Amino acid sequence: MPTDRYAVIGNPIAHSKSPLIHGLFAEQTGQAMSYERILAPLDGFRDAVMRFRAEGGRGMNVTVPFKLEAFALAHTLSERAARAGAVNTLIFHADGVIEGDNTDGAGLVRDLLRQGAKIAGARVLLLGAGGAVRGVLAPLLAERPARLVIANRTAGKAAQLALDFTDLGTITGCGFDALAGLSFDLVINGTSASLSGELPPLPDGLLAPGAVAYDMAYGSEPTPFQRWAEAHGAKLALDGLGMLAEQAAESFLRWRGVRPSTAPVQVALRKA
Ligand code: ATR
Repeated sequence: MPTDRYAVIGNPIAHSKSPLIHGLFAEQTGQAMSYERILAPLDGFRDAVMRFRAEGGRGMNVTVPFKLEAFALAHTLSERAARAGAVNTLIFHADGVIEGDNTDGAGLVRDLLRQGAKIAGARVLLLGAGGAVRGVLAPLLAERPARLVIANRTAGKAAQLALDFTDLGTITGCGFDALAGLSFDLVINGTSASLSGELPPLPDGLLAPGAVAYDMAYGSEPTPFQRWAEAHGAKLALDGLGMLAEQAAESFLRWRGVRPSTAPVQVALRKA
């Protein structure tokens, strides 16, 4: 049976869990495909993509720092990728068209719902106003939260980001100091603070009774934000490993037309 080739491309890439995840998906769904890692030089993203496609590649996942370059490289964009302003999934169509999609937001929403968080009608707070947050706003707003607030260290960036999405729902942006006295049912950390072991300055009382906290980052230990949430009464303090598996499943669905089950992959990721 011919094997279709896929890959994840980034810099660095050695740590990527995507080959493990897609390998398990392929096995589970009986798809004849391979999935490899590609390290692209920082100035060599386009060349590496084109080479992989010329060698018969069918699609790629794109990770740090190339999601904006992938957005620029794609010939066509899905609606959600256009909104995200970034691409994490490339689909090489048979007619030569390179489609860019973004499955990060759908992955976050699926993981939240799978783990029992309620988004519809909830007061939702997103921390951060960078690419990671922009990428998940449209799918979150599609779930119809009562309100969505973006809070960021640089308040002006949060306000501008909210303005870009006002057509999709009730969304506002502010600085962290404006959070005093507010409380939320769902708080999602999309800052890169966790990566450096830091925590945005958050007021007491931010978590409503029964609130769910979600860090889009993950590590071998709970992140500072998860620890903060546990200490402040969160019903659940989740990390982003579930989102990783769900965004991968969403990419797999786009490439293969089959949605794999993420449950066994979640277990394998926790063990790895
Ligand atoms: P990404 O693609 O991961 O979103 P980014 O676009 O560089 O990366 O955005 C990083 C986000 O994390 C920003 O919202 C940044 O806040 P600023 O816009 O004020 O720079 C936020 N961030 C990074 N380190 C932080 C820290 N120590 N405390 C709070 N916010 C932090």
